[in-house]
Amino acid sequence: MSSPDSAPSDINWDQLRQVALEMTKRAYAPYSNFSVGAAAITTTGSIVSGTNVENVSYGLTLCAECGLVSDLVAHSAGKLVAVVVVSGSGEHCAPCGRCRQLLVEHAAPHALINTAEGPRPVVDLLPGHFDVSRLKDG
Ligand code: THU
Repeated sequence: MSSPDSAPSDINWDQLRQVALEMTKRAYAPYSNFSVGAAAITTTGSIVSGTNVENVSYGLTLCAECGLVSDLVAHSAGKLVAVVVVSGSGEHCAPCGRCRQLLVEHAAPHALINTAEGPRPVVDLLPGHFDVSRLKDG
């Protein structure tokens, strides 16, 4: 799958939901008991995924989206095209602020994320986000 010129229309959302839900079963979340799974299809056609990994120091917790982006980069899987994040109950899980920044940086231009209202552009997660073009203003 190459980078789409417009929003992708042939996404198998059910498959991504299933992979994300499967990932929630591998979560390490003994402190919050809130398991999260993330899955995405990428510009290379790969499926990448992640789950949350908590830590006794709490603040070091890695969200499921951190694992997702790590999987993407570690496998040279291109950019995210369609993303699903769910909790252990299978409900859509809204990405936290830090993960919105992570997802936006690694998303293809027309990438979508499943939300409570259905698929939305990933870039809409973080209007006015910090990106590489802003580094020149320093
Ligand atoms: N969590 C994620 O994995 N992704 C998010 O975007 C929101 C929060 C995790 C972190 C923590 O392990 C648990 O959910 C409760 O906050």
